[in-house]
Amino acid sequence: MTISNLSSRIPGFHRMTTAERLEAVAAFSGLDGATVAQLGAPGNIDPHLADHMIENVVSTLSIPIGIATNLRVDGKDVLVPMATEESSVVAAVCNSARQCYETGGFVTSVSGNLMIAQVQLVGVPDPHGARLRILERRDEVAAICDGCDPMLVQLGGGFREMEVRVVPSLGGPMVVTHLIVDTRDAMGANAVNTMAETLAPSIERWTGGRVLLRILSNLADRRVARARATWPAEAIGGAGVRDGMIAAYHFAEADPYRAATHNKGIMNGVSAVVLATGNDTRAVEAGAHAYAARDGRYTSLTRWEAGADGALVGAIELPLPVGLVGGATKIHPTARACLKILGVTTAAELARIIAAVGLAQNFGAMKALATTGIQQGHMALHANNVAIAAGAVGEEVARLAATLVERRAVRQDVAVAELERMRGARTA
Ligand code: MEV
Repeated sequence: MTISNLSSRIPGFHRMTTAERLEAVAAFSGLDGATVAQLGAPGNIDPHLADHMIENVVSTLSIPIGIATNLRVDGKDVLVPMATEESSVVAAVCNSARQCYETGGFVTSVSGNLMIAQVQLVGVPDPHGARLRILERRDEVAAICDGCDPMLVQLGGGFREMEVRVVPSLGGPMVVTHLIVDTRDAMGANAVNTMAETLAPSIERWTGGRVLLRILSNLADRRVARARATWPAEAIGGAGVRDGMIAAYHFAEADPYRAATHNKGIMNGVSAVVLATGNDTRAVEAGAHAYAARDGRYTSLTRWEAGADGALVGAIELPLPVGLVGGATKIHPTARACLKILGVTTAAELARIIAAVGLAQNFGAMKALATTGIQQGHMALHANNVAIAAGAVGEEVARLAATLVERRAVRQDVAVAELERMRGARTA
């Protein structure tokens, strides 16, 4: 690590151009020319656009987008772009989807496009009375919320209902209002946050309390997507494999230590499509994990069982607050291109495809884990990365990767030594 004695307080940093900021960072961190050139190289996003998307931009990070094939969702074939840095993820979805293609692929549904915004009210002496005073104002609440976004209302969205809860807390009971809003094809964070902020003074007036937080909940349990699929036992290697996979699911269902890894595998697929389409990966991740713990115990997001005909039946259900309009989805040209590949016209369609990918991803991981283990397949794909990290270029990459797999030693030290040997043999 380069220890710099320069100050991290750089006056006017946010007002500099991207190039000026990069120069300042290079001076601070002692970056060499090659590193600066790497950071300065444009990716497939206009640097001006990048500079407007977030603050203090110096560079962009390109992540590979792979296409998942073999997916049939609700009777329609789709190609699914997945943005991920992890090898095996895309291949696992392709393989899993192939094995259930003949039984019709994935059947999906959604609960709706409803987002929740929370308004936290404190300092009321009679929280239960205050709760009712808010509930009595339902029509006013609806009018205030809908008044914030006439365009959303015109598109068929807007306020739908409200819930008011008295929540015991360390600081005493607080009155929490939930605004439940149909945000149509938007993820909806901005729409519901504006509604919560606009409503706050009225809630204070009606109750005599003090409003603190006004923000959406990422536990979007009114915006759940579901997918199910059937894998014939003979397509997956027989009843033994099926039962091993069901036992793997039972493990995740029973034990949060395993459930965290099981669900991480699901999110490998889910987050890759969420990212490729410019949606908010953190919102979806937070919602998924909170949903997995909704009954007070963290558990699996999927369920697996044997059907009457002995086939393996999988089902997934998770909140999928994704949108097609607004944010990076709308302005990032690659996200727009990925949406074109998917051919979706509504946020609900996108959510349904993502749920199918999550289920396929889980199938792939469980099948590998319950049979050969994941390392064999994973390492074969990972070997390419190890070869590149060891310095292999061009056709050396595939040759070196194959050697590492053959020697069952997909390791950096072996890769470096083997590359040297390969090059030595060539020049000898
Ligand atoms: C690795 O990224 C994901 C897995 O660990 C998922 C799982 O264990 O189910 C393979």
